[in-house]
Amino acid sequence: MAEVLIVYATELGHTRRIAERVASEMMRSAGHRPSVASSDAAPDLGRFDAVIVGAPVRTSAFVEAIEGYVRDHAGDLGRRPSALFSVCAPDDHDDRTCRDALDAYLRALQHETGWYPDVIASFAGVRPYTHIGMAHQVLTAGTPEAAEHELGATDWDAVSGFVEAFLHHLHRALGARPVSSTHPAST
Ligand SMILES: Cc1cc2nc3c(=O)[nH]c(=O)nc-3n(C[C@H](O)[C@H](O)[C@H](O)COP(=O)(O)O)c2cc1C
Repeated sequence: MAEVLIVYATELGHTRRIAERVASEMMRSAGHRPSVASSDAAPDLGRFDAVIVGAPVRTSAFVEAIEGYVRDHAGDLGRRPSALFSVCAPDDHDDRTCRDALDAYLRALQHETGWYPDVIASFAGVRPYTHIGMAHQVLTAGTPEAAEHELGATDWDAVSGFVEAFLHHLHRALGARPVSSTHPAST
């Protein structure tokens, strides 16, 4: 059993929701004991065998809290199996220009920090009402559109695929390294 830290930032709550889904799938399908923590209260990486970073997107970049976390911990992130998932607006997730801009940002961040996650995924999150306006929020209350706002437009099968890909990598990597098994999980 591996100790895995899933560290995230969130403003609207959806990146935490995905982080918790990733944790429960890792537990259910592989019996690992993941810890989920906000980047501003994340435990030291020293005792973890692997780490997953969940990054909400603002203006084709990760929110400051996650960008800062990556910059501050790039060395530690790179020394263990690691993965990254980004969460963006549903419309931007489907927009080629936005995806290219995010890819370019990520390449620059990787080059600058030296952290190259082993598995990378991008998920659609929630459509922020700041983008569509309060009047629209009132008019669409109770509709499928409002439900999408509450629950997000995330493809949960893609989240499962991400977990599966990371577990595949993790198990191969840990086959070559001793696994810590004595540390308690924390949040
Ligand atoms: C103020 C604000 C600005 C945003 N800007 C972008 C953006 O430029 N590109 C994008 O893809 N998503 C953008 N989003 C959408 C968020 O990435 C999306 O809502 C995501 O679900 C937020 O993650 P969170 O729920 O964990 O906070 C923005 C959201 C907010 C609130």
